[in-house]
Formats: sequence, structure tokens, C-alpha cells
Amino acid sequence: MELIFEKSRPGRAAGTVPASDVPETALERLIGPELLRDTLNLPELAEVDIVRHYTRLSRRNFGVDVGFYPLGSCTMKYNPKINERVAGLDGFTALHPYAPEAFVQGNLQLLYELAGYLSEICGMADFTLQPAAGAHGELTGVMIIKKHFERKGQRRSTILIPDTAHGTNPASVALCGFQVATVRSDAEGGVDVGHLRELMTKDVAGLMLTNPNTLGLFERNIEEVAHIVHRKGGLLYCDGANANALVGVTRPGDLGFDIIQLNLHKTFSTPHGCGGPGSGPVGVKRHLVPFLPVPRVVKRGRRYRWSEDFPHSIGRVRSFYGNFNVMVKAYAYIRSIGAAGMRRVSENAVLNANYIKERLRGHYQLAYDRTCMHECVFTGEKQLRESGVHTTDIAKRLLDYGYHPPTIYFPLIVREAIMIEPTETESKETLDEFCEAMISIAREARENPDLVRSAPLTTPVRRLDDVLAARKPDVCWTVCQGE
Ligand SMILES: Cc1ncc(COP(=O)(O)O)c(C=O)c1O
Repeated sequence: MELIFEKSRPGRAAGTVPASDVPETALERLIGPELLRDTLNLPELAEVDIVRHYTRLSRRNFGVDVGFYPLGSCTMKYNPKINERVAGLDGFTALHPYAPEAFVQGNLQLLYELAGYLSEICGMADFTLQPAAGAHGELTGVMIIKKHFERKGQRRSTILIPDTAHGTNPASVALCGFQVATVRSDAEGGVDVGHLRELMTKDVAGLMLTNPNTLGLFERNIEEVAHIVHRKGGLLYCDGANANALVGVTRPGDLGFDIIQLNLHKTFSTPHGCGGPGSGPVGVKRHLVPFLPVPRVVKRGRRYRWSEDFPHSIGRVRSFYGNFNVMVKAYAYIRSIGAAGMRRVSENAVLNANYIKERLRGHYQLAYDRTCMHECVFTGEKQLRESGVHTTDIAKRLLDYGYHPPTIYFPLIVREAIMIEPTETESKETLDEFCEAMISIAREARENPDLVRSAPLTTPVRRLDDVLAARKPDVCWTVCQGE
């Protein structure tokens, strides 16, 4: 597709500027001549060309409003538009962060109550809403762990992380100055309890565990795991990015976790991805509440106000109070679906993933043949072995069928991984159509592997050099190009 600069034709314009009705002054007299240019090289187009250009571009964009988006570990679910509407109300969007407390009682109430709802949902004593993403929440959580041991006068150097974890976990831990030790997974895809017992010494500050983990599996031995960590004085951290499988059914606090971060931009009605504003609130048990970031919203009588009066706080982790609009959406979502709706979310997310798992078994090999939670993980090893078709070829071929591909090659411990997360918002018809596409591709891989290896055939661009595209993205038209 041509760039808007390439469509440009000298002299063509999209509007007319009315004749000036005030005396004109030469530009050189208003602006220093050194700041003036002879040419600007802005695109020159008619209005219809501009409208068509941007409309065409928008149609090439894939999003959850366009089609099924089963990107594992990302919870790309459809979010009700009513929550966007609510978040767009003037009282929220036109809010000034320095507005006096008396003017923004409703907004403070929203923050206060949202922290309360999240605490109730997760079985925690309190939440901070400040962190701006899941990884930022992890960082905040680990800072709280560090502060906890400092206050106890203990120096602990290491945090344990299972080999299935999301890459942000070790990064967050390392940023706080802890070393990372990796806990092996067992044959069932859970934490290898024997290995955990071996590693869990008094030098270990805690275990950072994703539950359900990135294999889409619930940690069966969670009570034993919590016991092992706590007996040595460690803290149990929950990466709660997969809360879509848990909300309304079980509470991480009741499972023994001391700290959790949630990704509001997954489970709680904000679209995930594209670097848009996120929110990674962190919840803690009572003994860690004094360390939460400041300022915090407190309620005195019927009034809400900001308070910095928490002397043991880790301080501020974000300007003002985080990404407020994401919180408004989460609040609207929780209030509109209620406790019963929350439970249905998890039940349907888990049901949908297991439906896909059962429909595709026999066509693709399961990484772990267990009931899964909200996502299921296959391996394309059978296709690779029998036809030389890689998982990446299968993903590219799905584009020809009109689907966003699932996550591939993650989690790292599964070779040729294909990780599918349908979410609770998809109908049986959508799941069936997707499964038919996957089954067709499995057949094509057997009968015509070259076709799959050369996919995609119908997209505006074919195969990009992924590494080059990620490391050296060419996304900017240089105005002086060609000069
Ligand atoms: C299991 C898990 N942990 C942490 C994160 C990091 O969250 P964020 O991308 O908001 O930083 C993700 C993101 O997808 C995740 O899947």
C-alpha cells in the first residue's frame, strides 16, 4: 500500500483557507529568518484521498472488535463498550490531577471502593492501584518484599521463580537487586516440589509463582508450596496476570499467597496490547499493608482524602495515582457484572479453553494432557517431525484463514509451543470455526506442507524478517527523503 507521502501531488489540497480580513504582515517580520523554510514536504492530497487512505489503513488493522484473537497469555477478550463509555465521561477525562480533594470526592470514592473490591476478589487486606502495568506491579511487589525483610533486619538475596514464568518476573526481581533461582517444573507441568524444598533456604526471600501458570495449568500442590515457602520465613508472590481463570471461583489470598498483582488490562475490561495504558494493582496481606506505595486514598467519616502518612511505605512508584481511566473501566466492569458474573467469567473462560483442547486433540499434540484453565498449550512437534512444518508456519497460515494467531514458542519449556486462549467472550460457533481452521491446517501440513510453509498468501505483506522488524522497525517516513 502506498504511503500518504507517495500519494501526494503538488498543488492538491483538502481545504481552502479564507482570505485574510486583517492586515497582513510578512512572516520574516514575525519569525526570525533562520527559522523559516522554503519547503515543508507535507503531503498534498484531496480530502477524498485522505479519507480513503485512512479508512483502508484501519481495515488492515486486526483487533478483537474485528475477529477472534486467541493470543495465549494475553487475555484478548472482548470488553463491553459500556465500560469505555463510562470511562469517557467528562468527570473522569477532564479531571485535573491537582484538583482539590473536595472537588473530586466521587473519583476518590471510586479508587477507594475499587481497591476494596479487588481485595475481596483476591482475599487480600488492601490494594495499591498505582502501578501502570503487570510488570510494574511485579516490581512494586518485589519492592514490598524487600522492605519487609529490611524491617525485620534480615538480608535475603534470592527469589525463586519457576521455569514456566513470564520473562518479566526475573526482570522485576533483578531490578530490585535480588538474584533469581529457577525452580524446575515436574512432569505434570507444576512446580517440582522436591526441587523447591531443596532451593528454599533462609537466604530466599520468596517464591514468585504464576497461578494458573503459563502452561494454563493450576498449581495442584499450592498448599504444600505455600507451606514450604512460609516455613522458611519466605513470602509467596502471585503473578495474577492469569486471574481470568480464577475470579469469583478461588481467592489467591486463601491459597496462601501474601502478595498479588493483577493486570486490569486483561481481566478487568481494558484491552491488552499495543502499549496502551495499563494498570497492575498490587494487593497484600495485612502484615504488608504498611509498605504499600503512597499516596493512598483513606476514608475519614464520609470524606475521602489522599494520605502520605505511612512512614514505612516504599514511596511512590508512579506519578499521581496510576492510570485512572483503566481503573474506571475496571470499576464499571465489576459493578456491572457483580460477583455472580465474575464467577461466570472464569467458568466460561475455562470451559472454552477445554473445549478447544478436546476438539484439537488428535490433530495437534498436547504439551500436558491435563484439564487446563483459561488457556491450552499444544506442541507442533508432530507436524515438524512428520512434515517439516514449523509452528510458525501454522501461525502464518492461520492469517490466511482470517484469524490472529495464538501465542507461539511460549512458554519456553514447550518445544514448538502453540498457546491458545479463547477467553470467556467467544461463542461456541466462533470456537468451532477456529477449530475447523486449525484442523484444515493440520491436514494441509500432511498433504501439502509447502503451502503451509509459504503462508501467508493473502495478507498485504508476506513474511517479514521478525528480528529486523523488532530490532530496527522502519516506521517513520523521513521528510527529507529523496532530497
Ligand atoms: C503471566 C504474565 N505475567 C506478567 C505479565 C506482564 O504484564 P504487562 O505486559 O502488563 O507488563 C504478563 C503479560 O502478558 C503475563 O502474561
